[in-house]
Amino acid sequence: MRVSLRVLLEHAALRGYGLVALNINNAEQALAAGQAAADTDSPLIVQMSRGARKHMNEVMLKHVLNGMEELWPHIPMCFHQDHGNSPATCLGAIQLGFTSVMMDGSLKEDGKTPADLQYNIRVTEEVVRAAHAVGVSVEGEVGCLGSLLTGAGDQEDGHGAVGRIDPDLLLTDPGEAEEFVKATNVDALAVAIGTSHGAYKFTTEPTGAVLRIDRAVEIHQRIPNCPLVMHGSSSVPQELQDEFRKWGGDMRQTWGVPIDEIQRAIKEAGVRKVNVDTDCRIAYMAAVRQVLREAPGKFDPRDIWVPGRKAMYDICKQRMEQFGQAGQGSSVRKALGY
Ligand code: G3H
Ligand code: 13P
Ligand code: ZN
Repeated sequence: MRVSLRVLLEHAALRGYGLVALNINNAEQALAAGQAAADTDSPLIVQMSRGARKHMNEVMLKHVLNGMEELWPHIPMCFHQDHGNSPATCLGAIQLGFTSVMMDGSLKEDGKTPADLQYNIRVTEEVVRAAHAVGVSVEGEVGCLGSLLTGAGDQEDGHGAVGRIDPDLLLTDPGEAEEFVKATNVDALAVAIGTSHGAYKFTTEPTGAVLRIDRAVEIHQRIPNCPLVMHGSSSVPQELQDEFRKWGGDMRQTWGVPIDEIQRAIKEAGVRKVNVDTDCRIAYMAAVRQVLREAPGKFDPRDIWVPGRKAMYDICKQRMEQFGQAGQGSSVRKALGY
């Protein structure tokens, strides 16, 4: 069953757990995420970036989402636009059947230039008015993702501030967060606390100086009724890096966001949505690399897709268990009366 993000976040807040938001780019990844939710009785958030919408073809994408709903009618599932760059992108997502959109007005429409708070409020509020009229939720963002160590904006996925940016922007200001939420009435707020997209987040195990969970706690105290969202929250575990390298992948040593820090943010900072894409990508591609390395004679694409899907499924299931959403699907269903 297709539900809004708000429904899922309210249930999560009530019961004190977090939800992983999984990026998908094809039907294989949709099957991995959906099956993990089905096997763990989890409510599900899948999200599509602008790039994913383009890659999948919007007609195909629409029917992949319909297919997920038909396959697993008992799973409460939210289809979310990740990093919408403009009201037009968000309205397009609503037309495709998404039940939630992120209006990322922390950056201008080019998805690269940091925007001021007034611009952010104006575009986000415009999206909230349209989305709420049709029961769709809206996630906003205050602050820009990027490294607190280097001061560099977040550019790995082609979305994010370019070059070194104003250090003040790299940490969400609690006062601005409060002003933004009051002015826009968003359903969730993404915060900048030192995380960034992609594999290369930290050069050593992150300390509290570069991963500012304490700032999320502070923001939560100012706006306790607004669920917070952590982007760039792949953990890039050592074993996944090792596996990727083992089969010929080229990845320099890196550190992601430790699971226990995410669990702390869920417990203490009202973080309810945790975005994970990179871990799924690495797991998927390590499995693909293994088949290509071990069985170079294979040419049926299914021979690499199936192990890739299974590797992503394992990550999805693990995160659902680690963030506490496993076992909550039937409770959401019950609360919704179906
Ligand atoms: O926002 C970041 C997600 O990992 C999606 O990345 O824009 O390459 O699809 P993408
Ligand atoms: P990762 O690159 O850390 O997986 O973050 C994904 C994300 O934030 C999508 O919006
Ligand atoms: Zn993101």
